[in-house]
Amino acid sequence: MDRSDLSEPLYALEAHRTDMGEATIAGLFAKDPRRFADFHVALDDILFDFSKHRVDRTTLALLLDLARAAKLEERRAALFAGDIVNPTEHRPALHMALRNMRGAPMRAAGVDVMPEVLAERRKMLAFAEDVRNGRTRGATGQTFTDVVNIGIGGSDLGPAMAAEALSPFIAPHLKLHFVANVDGADLADTLKDLALERTLFVVCSKTFTTLETMTNAAAARKAVVAKLGEAAVAAQFCAVSTAQKEVAAFGIAEDRRFRFWDWVGGRYSVWSSIGLSLAVGIGAAHFEEFLRGGETIDRHFVEAPLARNVPVLMALIEIWYRNFWDYAVQAIIPYDRRLRRFPAYLQQLEMESNGKSVDLAGTPIESATGAILFGEPGTNAQHAFFQLFHQGTEIVPVDFLVAAAPTAADPDQHRLLLANCLAQSEALMRGRTQTEVETRMRALGASEAETAALAPHKTFAGNRPSGTFLLRQLSPCVLGELIALYEHKVFVQSVIWNIDPFDQWGVELGKELASGLAPLVAGKNAPLDKLDSSTAGLIAQLRKWT
Ligand code: F6P
Repeated sequence: MDRSDLSEPLYALEAHRTDMGEATIAGLFAKDPRRFADFHVALDDILFDFSKHRVDRTTLALLLDLARAAKLEERRAALFAGDIVNPTEHRPALHMALRNMRGAPMRAAGVDVMPEVLAERRKMLAFAEDVRNGRTRGATGQTFTDVVNIGIGGSDLGPAMAAEALSPFIAPHLKLHFVANVDGADLADTLKDLALERTLFVVCSKTFTTLETMTNAAAARKAVVAKLGEAAVAAQFCAVSTAQKEVAAFGIAEDRRFRFWDWVGGRYSVWSSIGLSLAVGIGAAHFEEFLRGGETIDRHFVEAPLARNVPVLMALIEIWYRNFWDYAVQAIIPYDRRLRRFPAYLQQLEMESNGKSVDLAGTPIESATGAILFGEPGTNAQHAFFQLFHQGTEIVPVDFLVAAAPTAADPDQHRLLLANCLAQSEALMRGRTQTEVETRMRALGASEAETAALAPHKTFAGNRPSGTFLLRQLSPCVLGELIALYEHKVFVQSVIWNIDPFDQWGVELGKELASGLAPLVAGKNAPLDKLDSSTAGLIAQLRKWT
């Protein structure tokens, strides 16, 4: 694509940014009685309110011009057509096929993948149901009570986040556990209270080479063999991977080997058999609902006009902040304890996808790219870092997420949760002027001296942007919708920045250096003279201490 096509919309946005300098979000509401009506999109189960963002009608029109100039519609078509959209790994990115429920043909590099996808989904869900219902049992003939997913990154965060989010749907006789870290404490703490003969281990790794997963899987295997004997491995383990030979070599029985394909990126793999532990927990019907949620958003992303297209709007508004206001951080605040792993999940999805400095052609990108993302559930976050959101020098746009109706929680407490969520977005936008503070303080009987001393501290600048996602309820379907919205948002941003969002070369260097350092850390005498003095000094000290 000729990036010079973008210069006109970029220039117009720069000029508009200057024009907007003094405008406040509250002022935009005052001027425009239709602001909420026109600045939200209501899908069946999710309402996206972007009226408290620092955008007006011109901003949106110019951002949409930018998207069209970047050929978003053509690039979206190429994604869904299974073209090679990940050129550095020479792969399509067709995770949408995994949630294509009716099986209409979808091609990866020209070949219809749906027959294999449907067959694999059936196999995985049948196995999950058998484990759940006690038809499939462990080596001693006992039913499973615990499922331990061993995986990291995309082979952990998706199912771990979803298992927590959908915990009210998990069968009461089953507990799901997730072991990721190469820190042996992760596995040891998990296994401490488990009966190995009633535990199913699900080893998840796209490559089946990842150090953390292979180390934990080997340790779990050793524990099973020590207690139940070598023959028990076939009954206590199953695995999900694209590397079927390696899975077989580990000793996984053939009917317990589940596969997916290289056109599924790790961070987009929760929809595949990587969701096995989740499917055991919530059951096949709920897992399919989850997939259906993702599929609903795929349709929306493809069919809705750009101006009413939620992932497109999410992406463009963030581009506005990132590239025209220099906001480097984005917060995700779910007012839902069960979504507490959602920010971590999105960190991989967004930061591993768009944390890049070169474009598709390998040329350095001049603008800023992916933002730093973080978050914690509200209301806890209010009592931790919201101080900075309200009064700090850094502006942090927030995504608020909250469900209208709770799943399995006290309805009165839920109303308080909702009120707090709405209050925060209002407070961030509105702020409180020094004059308002002084008037209030005087009305409450404060002296003039006290009012003068404290008013600056109690003043809120306001004009801090946020978007709100109001969910009908945190059901499997709505969770699927939510994840797919963010997936497509990431894709839209990658189109504007002209990034490959499906590779992750930035994780390689650390992996390589760690494997070089491992023998130096383990050995007592290996020379350290090839290392920088900091790394050598640290290893020398730890040799003394261990
Ligand atoms: O190190 C990054 C990464 O490659 C992620 O992209 C991936 O999700 C994770 O490691 C785990 O990889 P695998 O599923 O192959 O074990």
